[in-house]
Amino acid sequence: MTLDNTKNMHYRTLGKTGLNVSLLSLGTGGPSMFGQNNGLEQKQQTELVRRCLDMGINLIDTHERYKDSEEILGKALKGVSRDAYNLVTKWAYAPGGDDFESDPEALSRSVERSLRRLGTDHVEVLLFHGLMPEHHDLVLERYVPVLQRLKDEGKVRFGGFSLRFVDDPSHEGALTALERTPELWDVIMLKFGILNQYASKHALPLAMEHNIGILNMAAVRFKLPDPKLLAETIADWKARGLIPSDALPDDDPLGWLVDDDVDSVISAAYKFAAEHPAIGSVISGTSSIEHMERNISAMERPYLPQEARFRLERLFGHIAEYA
Ligand SMILES: NC(=O)c1ccc[n+]([C@@H]2O[C@H](COP(=O)([O-])OP(=O)(O)OC[C@H]3O[C@@H](n4cnc5c(N)ncnc54)[C@H](OP(=O)(O)O)[C@@H]3O)[C@@H](O)[C@H]2O)c1
Repeated sequence: MTLDNTKNMHYRTLGKTGLNVSLLSLGTGGPSMFGQNNGLEQKQQTELVRRCLDMGINLIDTHERYKDSEEILGKALKGVSRDAYNLVTKWAYAPGGDDFESDPEALSRSVERSLRRLGTDHVEVLLFHGLMPEHHDLVLERYVPVLQRLKDEGKVRFGGFSLRFVDDPSHEGALTALERTPELWDVIMLKFGILNQYASKHALPLAMEHNIGILNMAAVRFKLPDPKLLAETIADWKARGLIPSDALPDDDPLGWLVDDDVDSVISAAYKFAAEHPAIGSVISGTSSIEHMERNISAMERPYLPQEARFRLERLFGHIAEYA
């Protein structure tokens, strides 16, 4: 498959940031960790990044803790015009779970390190990684003033947080922040996908109400690319009464999503992840150019047939657990 220009890409405004971002973006974490977990070398990672930019991707997500992703990304972007892409990076304010960084300036030191590795003087978005509801007040008091200073200095344009999808599958971190301090946050990164639809109940409508940009992470992740894991998950949900036992076949339970316009369950998953109007961009964590080409191709029509979407919503819309 060859996509030689950006005609396949859709763009959306990322909430109040006003950034015009590609509906599919590149993530440098997740299971592949920018190919660091499957033997890719700088030359291939550079090719991946350049191909993504050629195909219209203009947002790349990274983290100070995605092994060497920031440094690899900085090298891959060397010489590329800075206005061709938006960078999102993160800071782990609680690197040891509930063991917080006590010095607020740890945030500015982290951002300085990120900028150096990325070879830039600013990032578009800085996220507090994995905001838990019980940490909201501490983050507000201890670190948000430093974030504001970094914004004033022009090192960070917009601020927000990501969620922990294993520990917080019903997005309490986002709901707390959206209730108490919606004016503070420009961007939230959360997980919304076929098997994780719960965000559409509260977090996505609230984010839209406050015009907060949503970056959708890990919409595919482990279970949808792996037929065995997917079948096990569906069997478990049937056994626990979360879905009716006759609702889906045991074998290839989501195979019915594949049709003339949807070449795989993975394509269906990226489409589903993109359709909700609150979503600014769906981050794809692939390290394969071929996979990214397929994923971008799926985004050409970023929606499923209505009947298929309704069926998925009826099946899984009520489930609030990590999958
Ligand atoms: N709390 C947080 O802040 C947080 C947490 C998780 C993720 N994130 C961010 O969100 C990004 C996306 O999450 P994710 O990496 O879990 O991404 P994802 O896009 O949901 O899933 C990536 C996985 O799907 C596979 N895949 C993707 N497209 C495929 C295709 N066409 N065919 C076959 N397999 C395919 C990839 O394998 P291949 O590499 O083989 O294609 C990879 O194993 C991360 O990279 C990271 O930047 C943030």
